[in-house]
Amino acid sequence: MARKKAEHSLCLVGLLPAPPSYLTDFPNVFVSATGTNFYDQCFPSGSVNFGFSCMAAYWLSQKPRNLIKAVLHIFSEDPDERNKFRVQAEKDWERFLLMRARELSIGKTLNYLDYLVIEQR
Ligand SMILES: C[S@@+](CC[C@H](N)C(=O)[O-])C[C@H]1O[C@@H](n2cnc3c(N)ncnc32)[C@H](O)[C@@H]1O
Repeated sequence: MARKKAEHSLCLVGLLPAPPSYLTDFPNVFVSATGTNFYDQCFPSGSVNFGFSCMAAYWLSQKPRNLIKAVLHIFSEDPDERNKFRVQAEKDWERFLLMRARELSIGKTLNYLDYLVIEQR
């Protein structure tokens, strides 16, 4: 019954045809959500066997300063603007990985997909 409800909520209560889903293909897959900040630990230590994160951690934990000369820091030509965002991104990336490292079981996998900025120095 709970599975049916989840399937229905995923297809807007029957307004749209349900897309193919692991929810219907595999009886032993259960979906849950956590509203936890991913810069904190989201799951108990050593409890995650497979982690997947897609296009999310490019959101920094905080804005290091207002952008004056660009809408996105990657397009800024102001070295101070770019540097402050780079420093914040480095701190956040380390914290993100440390939190995931606590959560993962030994020998298990985190798959991560996101934007990458490569700078010539
Ligand atoms: C571009 S969406 C990607 C969503 C999904 N992973 C996908 O690929 O379709 C980025 C998501 O990251 C979430 N997000 C941003 N900062 C977060 C944080 N500190 N903790 C948890 N989620 C965060 C946003 O709310 C948003 O849902």
